Amino acid sequence: MSDKEFQTNTSEWFYPTEDIIKNAHIPDYDTVYQQAIDDPIGFWGEQAESLEWYQKWDQVLDDSNAPFYKWFIGGKTNIVLNALDRHQKTWRRNKIAIIWEGEDGEKRSFSYWRLNQEVCKFANVLRSMGVRKGDTVTIYMGRTPEIVIAMLACAKVGAIHSVIYGGFSEQAIADRIEDAKSRVLITSDGAWLRGQIVPLKNNVDQAIDRSPIVEHVIVVKRTGQDVTMVQGRDYWYHDLMALPIASTRCETEVMDAEDPLFILYTSGTTGKPKGILHTHGGYQVYTSTTLNWVFDIKDDDRWWCAADPGWITGHSYIVYAPLILGATSIIYEGAPTYPYPDRWWRIVEDYGVTILYTAPTAIRGLMRFGDAWPNRRDLSSLRLLGSVGEPINPEAWKWFYNVIGKGRCPIMDTWWQTETGGFMITPVPSVGLKPGSATRPFPGIVVDVVDEDGNTCAPNEDGKLVIKTPWPSMLRTVWGDDQRYLNQYWAAYKDKGWYLAGDSARKDDDGYIWVIGRIDDVIKVSGYRLGTAEIESGLVSHHAVAEAAVIGVPDEVKGNIIYAYCILVAGQTGSDDLVKALREHIRHEVGPIAMPSKIEFVDKLPKTRSGKIMRRVLKARAMGLPEGDLSTLED
Ligand code: PRX
Repeated sequence: MSDKEFQTNTSEWFYPTEDIIKNAHIPDYDTVYQQAIDDPIGFWGEQAESLEWYQKWDQVLDDSNAPFYKWFIGGKTNIVLNALDRHQKTWRRNKIAIIWEGEDGEKRSFSYWRLNQEVCKFANVLRSMGVRKGDTVTIYMGRTPEIVIAMLACAKVGAIHSVIYGGFSEQAIADRIEDAKSRVLITSDGAWLRGQIVPLKNNVDQAIDRSPIVEHVIVVKRTGQDVTMVQGRDYWYHDLMALPIASTRCETEVMDAEDPLFILYTSGTTGKPKGILHTHGGYQVYTSTTLNWVFDIKDDDRWWCAADPGWITGHSYIVYAPLILGATSIIYEGAPTYPYPDRWWRIVEDYGVTILYTAPTAIRGLMRFGDAWPNRRDLSSLRLLGSVGEPINPEAWKWFYNVIGKGRCPIMDTWWQTETGGFMITPVPSVGLKPGSATRPFPGIVVDVVDEDGNTCAPNEDGKLVIKTPWPSMLRTVWGDDQRYLNQYWAAYKDKGWYLAGDSARKDDDGYIWVIGRIDDVIKVSGYRLGTAEIESGLVSHHAVAEAAVIGVPDEVKGNIIYAYCILVAGQTGSDDLVKALREHIRHEVGPIAMPSKIEFVDKLPKTRSGKIMRRVLKARAMGLPEGDLSTLED
């Protein structure tokens, strides 16, 4: 499946039933969209009213220093006030917040009451370690309830969490600790994945050797193997939680709406990962509104966002928005196919999941095992499905719709990014769907597909995706690097004040948007966002490699796979053993998710006269396609 194979198919529509439309929070998209566009300030102010604030805002939007926008200025809040505290005063305290299942079959669940107690206890532990408002705390854990507790406890005391996905390793962790300047790190001994232990604590130890600013490491026991505990630095979570200091009473820190909530690192054009900054006020308003309207959350729902808390999807739609809405969420620790390819379908059946939100790569991966696995399970509890992370090819869309949703459950294909904080282009359950299109923007969001000069492209013509007006959960900056924020997102259409998403897209005759893919040096592998530069510097850090270029090549299941081209240092010769060694090196340095599928040794790389690697040419060659305009090639 290549980018170009996603053809806009305007003829095929899927419509929701009358029942779905009647029960949806937004039965009439066009009217609500128009209202929000006519009066965005009124619209966002109204959404914010549904949340609790210690003190209301004086102004909804301050655009005096654009693109450094500020939202709900003067407002005092804390996202934990809305995610936990307010539920303790209502019947919801006894509602289940989280149902968790380990890959090994262990099960735990938390009511809102119990979750709040755990968060209070851990917040007290963090405070006792000297963690204060504005401090950064790094979290590197598997998918367990404790990662949710850790994130919420940080937010509660006003600390800024920086979660690193468990699929990253040594150098990637070290870079992120260094950039965020975290003195405290929370991890676990390991995580279960496909029946194997991912050695998280071990990776942390090695990362701290490279980035020694960490003073305290808190370790959750999950997998139970021996780990090294450095005296005076490392503490077991369960020991700390048993101390008298870990009381269940804890005041939530009062935050300004614009105070930082978290940093989340993501890949961009250069090697250094970007710390995307989100804040308490706007983020809580936007994520809760979008989840409520797009997935139509009701009190009796069982919501399953099958992402990882270590990515933005997990931050927004496993942790914060569902808790704000008082929903019941499912969290599953491990692989969808472990021990058998029906693991997910068994979870749907066992817990009566009503809404399942996942990624195209997972759908394609499960589709390969055929219909018998899902057909053996009772999936009748499902009423809505969702997709995120990359374009969904119509074949996978239809399988999800027909085999999993039995033709009854509309699919919400949500386009958004780490930077946007929440869904941007997405259906709501009441609109007509076209497989492969994320449909139209969420109310309050203005997007367009434009050419280099900013002219709106003709229908069905490829162009750049831009967002034309600010929204509450937009990134505030790149951590510690305002200039990079300006260059990366706002420089391309500076005069117009538009946000450049970094994706190409086209709009069809009905105004439906079809996202094609990234136009920068970002590769989406199994929905994970990786930067070519970070993998390239990983390769070059191996003693045998002088220079490297990395590209993404389309793949049926993963969306893209990684191809690497390496020029070796003089005296080194390419061999199968070296390929193996380099793959291992990347696993160790960057992480298993960044391992190239193919490594080729070359003498030269196609470059422009100014020395920039022409990845486009490499990609065309790898795919056997015409190489296009070569006039800027060096020789
Ligand atoms: O290329 C788009 C793709 O994922 C990118 C954002 O990646 P990340 O920040 O990791 O966030 C992923 C989860 C929100 C986008 O620039 N993308 C995301 N959702 C879709 C998508 N491409 C097409 N369709 C989608 N629904």
